[in-house]
Amino acid sequence: MAGDNTGKVALVTGAARGLGELVARRLHAAGFRVALADLDLEAATAVAYSLGEGALALRLDVREKAGFEAAAALLQERWGGADVLVNNAGQSKVAALMDISPEEFDAVVAVNLRSVFLACQVFGQAFAARGHGRIVNIASLAGQTGGTATGAHYAAAKGGVLTLTKVFARELAAQGVTVNAISPGPLDLPIVHESVPADKLAAITQTIPVRTLGDAGFIADAVVLLAGSGAGSATGACWDINGGLFMR
Ligand SMILES: NC(=O)c1ccc[n+]([C@@H]2O[C@H](COP(=O)([O-])OP(=O)(O)OC[C@H]3O[C@@H](n4cnc5c(N)ncnc54)[C@H](O)[C@@H]3O)[C@@H](O)[C@H]2O)c1
Repeated sequence: MAGDNTGKVALVTGAARGLGELVARRLHAAGFRVALADLDLEAATAVAYSLGEGALALRLDVREKAGFEAAAALLQERWGGADVLVNNAGQSKVAALMDISPEEFDAVVAVNLRSVFLACQVFGQAFAARGHGRIVNIASLAGQTGGTATGAHYAAAKGGVLTLTKVFARELAAQGVTVNAISPGPLDLPIVHESVPADKLAAITQTIPVRTLGDAGFIADAVVLLAGSGAGSATGACWDINGGLFMR
C-alpha cells in the first residue's frame, strides 16, 4: 500500500463491535494508532485492550458535538492530534414506512446523519488547520436505492451521508483533507444473522448477484486504503461494495 501510515492516529466511531471493530483492528494492523469510540465503553475497552499498545477506548455519543470536541482534544493531548476519522457508528430500525413517528425519524437521523455532520465539522476543521486528514464515512446501499427493509429513516439518513461526503470533500480538498464514503450492501456480520431470520437471509442472499453476503473484512480493508497517506487523489467518492446489487 502506498504511503507510510506508521504512527498516524485514527478515530473510529462505533468501534466496539461489528464493522467498526474490524476497521479498528485493520487500521491498527496497518500501523495506525487507533481510538475506539463507542457508547459501549466496556466493549470498546475490551477491543482496545486486545489490540494493546497504540489503541485506546473512549465513550462517545455520536449525537453530541461536545463528544467529538472532547475526543479531538484528548487525541491532541495524547497522540498529537488525529489524522483519520472513520464515521462508522450507525443504527438501522425496521419500521413500516407510514408508522414512523416524527420522534423516531429524528432519533434515527441523529445517529446516522447528524453524527456525520458534527464529526466532519469538528475534525474537518482540525484537519484543515494541520493541512492533512482523511475522513471515511460508512454509508449504505439503502441510501442509494431507497430500500426500506432497514427503515425509511435509515435509508434517508444514509442518502444524506453520501451528500455530506461530497459537501465536505469540496470544502476541504484544497487543505489536504479527503472525504470519501463506502456504501456496503448486506454484510456477513453477527448483527445481520441475529436480526434477520435464517430463511429470510437465505432469500436475500439469492437476490445478490454474487450470491454471498458482503465480506466485512474487505470493507475494513477498503477503509484502510482510503485512510492511508497514499489516497490523496480520491475525494468525494463513494465506493459501492454490494455484490452487484446496485451498479451505476
Ligand atoms: N451490517 C450491515 O449489513 C451493514 C450494511 C450497510 C451499512 N452498514 C453500516 O455499517 C456501520 C456499522 O454497522 P454494524 O452492522 O457493524 O453495526 P453494529 O450495530 O454491529 O455496531 C454499531 C456500533 O455503533 C455503536 N453506536 C450506536 N449508536 C451509537 C452512538 N449514538 N454513539 C456512539 N456509538 C454508537 C454501537 O454501540 C455499536 O458498537 C453502520 O453505519 C451501518 O449502517 C452495515
